[in-house]
Amino acid sequence: MTVLSLAVGERGLVDPADPVLHADDEAFLRGRAAFETIRVYGGRPFRLDDHLERLRGSARRLSLPEDEAAQLRPLVAEALAAAGEPDAVLRLYLTPGREGEGRATALAMVSTLPPDLEARRAHGMRAITVPLGLDPTLRAEAPWLLGGVKSTSYAVNMAAEAEARRRGADDAVFLASGRIVLEGPVTNVWWRSGRELFTPALELGILAGVTRAVLLEEAAGLGYEVREGAYPVERLAAAEEAFTSSSVREVMPVVGLDDEPVGDGRPGSAAAGLQAALRRAAGA
Ligand SMILES: Cc1ncc(COP(=O)(O)O)c(C=O)c1O
Repeated sequence: MTVLSLAVGERGLVDPADPVLHADDEAFLRGRAAFETIRVYGGRPFRLDDHLERLRGSARRLSLPEDEAAQLRPLVAEALAAAGEPDAVLRLYLTPGREGEGRATALAMVSTLPPDLEARRAHGMRAITVPLGLDPTLRAEAPWLLGGVKSTSYAVNMAAEAEARRRGADDAVFLASGRIVLEGPVTNVWWRSGRELFTPALELGILAGVTRAVLLEEAAGLGYEVREGAYPVERLAAAEEAFTSSSVREVMPVVGLDDEPVGDGRPGSAAAGLQAALRRAAGA
């Protein structure tokens, strides 16, 4: 992705090549910052209010001043106007600022979309399962584990993606102990058996995906019943089809899991129907 524009709190638009954070910003020192990734369709950020609400929740859980999130709306408008690209990725950040100062920094950054998304959607992705070793009920009771928080501490998620590539796959699926399906490093996970769709419950401490919420709204209209719960990976492996959801990748078919095909090993009908419904909802 190439950065097209960048707007920073108390400064406004800056050259994306300019430095904007201090070396002692805790976002860098400790990976303690809240962020959001939003898809922009035709110049409009999709479900911006939901993303800002989630950012405020993440900020609260990270002890960042959540009111600073209000700075982001005007920055979004400035960054989008300057980007000159109607279909793009908008990323928002709220960092704690310099150590000891406690003045948050807000950033809105617009980038190009990854170039290969539609080719990947046509072929589907192959995933590996990666155990996290967590008790599936633990994150609901242990707020310090930051379950469901979108923080910049994503090194583990990126390492899981790298492990998938190392093993010749495209993506990873995190499992809790008992081989319970959680989520992908940057996606929520879904599968279909007959007219039923299954997706892990938010109580497992996974991220409350904005796309996941849109698909929950759209599924009934397409004749699917959705079940949310704590499911062992065997259910996913035995599904007729599987897919992931995220703002950037939208609905992405998963055609293989741990070297075995999922269903007939091709992108499925629910993924196609929900992708079309998501685009309709986005007015795209
Ligand atoms: C861990 C994780 N789960 C799920 C998602 C999907 O969330 P959304 O649909 O809001 O993009 C993301 C998105 O970045 C993520 O990082």
